[in-house]
Amino acid sequence: MGNEVLVSEKLSEAHTLPSWLYTDPDVLEVERTEIFAKSWQYVGHVSEFKKAGDYITTEIVGKPIFVTLGNDGEMRAFYNVCSHRAAKLVEGEGNKRIITCPYHAWSYRLDGSLNRAPNMQGVESFNAQDFCLHDVRLELFESFIFVNLDPHAEPMTKLYGGLFEHVKNDNLERFKKVRVKETICHSNWKVGIDNYLECDHCPLVHKSLVSKVDMGQYESALYDNYVYQETPLKGETSDFEMGQGGRYYWLYPNMWFSFDPGPPNVSIHQSIPIDHKTTKYVYTTFFMNDNISNEEEELMAVDEDVRKEDKEICEVVQKGIETGVYKRGRFSLTENCVHHFHLLMQKRLKHLLPLK
Ligand code: FES
Ligand SMILES: [Fe+2]
Repeated sequence: MGNEVLVSEKLSEAHTLPSWLYTDPDVLEVERTEIFAKSWQYVGHVSEFKKAGDYITTEIVGKPIFVTLGNDGEMRAFYNVCSHRAAKLVEGEGNKRIITCPYHAWSYRLDGSLNRAPNMQGVESFNAQDFCLHDVRLELFESFIFVNLDPHAEPMTKLYGGLFEHVKNDNLERFKKVRVKETICHSNWKVGIDNYLECDHCPLVHKSLVSKVDMGQYESALYDNYVYQETPLKGETSDFEMGQGGRYYWLYPNMWFSFDPGPPNVSIHQSIPIDHKTTKYVYTTFFMNDNISNEEEELMAVDEDVRKEDKEICEVVQKGIETGVYKRGRFSLTENCVHHFHLLMQKRLKHLLPLK
């Protein structure tokens, strides 16, 4: 056993990814360019866009992006970068029918075309069409907005084949974003994914959650680029309806949709690496109504407890990995989803890192 061993395809004989992938800052740099800059990243929900010109801003691998709704009803994403001297165009969220740069007042239409470039009269060979905003791939998964910095990325329907079918009865477009919470976890982003993708730890770490669900009926399913886990509430069967159990979809590489037991809900968890041992978690909760009921408050409180329990154990794990004595681990046969994640990571990274 050592760094030279790749993760075997066969779960029962596989070792995990080597620990240095969790502690080396250079690995994160490779992951940023090869994974995060080439994968679909959640940025928002259609309920945030009510009229033309509504916009939101975000960053993907540190690059400023904004998403806006055009006069033609089309949602578009652009780099939040002016074509004149690269200043940032818009901040936060709001509504602008024309986007005017705060630096020298070049302005852009909602389709990204250059509207006005003041003070450029007399400049030779200056063509407005050469100075449109740089667009970013945008796709909708049901009513959730995703962008991808890679212009050649495969569409979500292909990468996450079957997922659309899975949630088609959940009426996701009826959900409204009600709360966003952020926490910082002092562990490598992959520690959080490893933790999320198995429930062997649930009876030990999430005692209160496990008292309500039937862990005997826990099931998981692996797909090319996503993983499904479910557990019904005690007294329910495996074909439970929304609210009668937990349904969890992890989408490669760093986000998951959670349908928790309780009133109709969906939440999105994103893990965003800050550095190789610090991860920002963004949790966005969606309910059917804007007014939050007591039951919904309670659900969010339970969720928060679970997240805190996971954060604490992830920080303990990172500390353990950083001792240098832990080189790589093994998988139990119920950690098949973690194994799947490690194989996906290996597939993306093996040509770039000295994995063997
Ligand atoms: S940088 Fe935007 S107008 Fe100059
Ligand atoms: Fe957990």
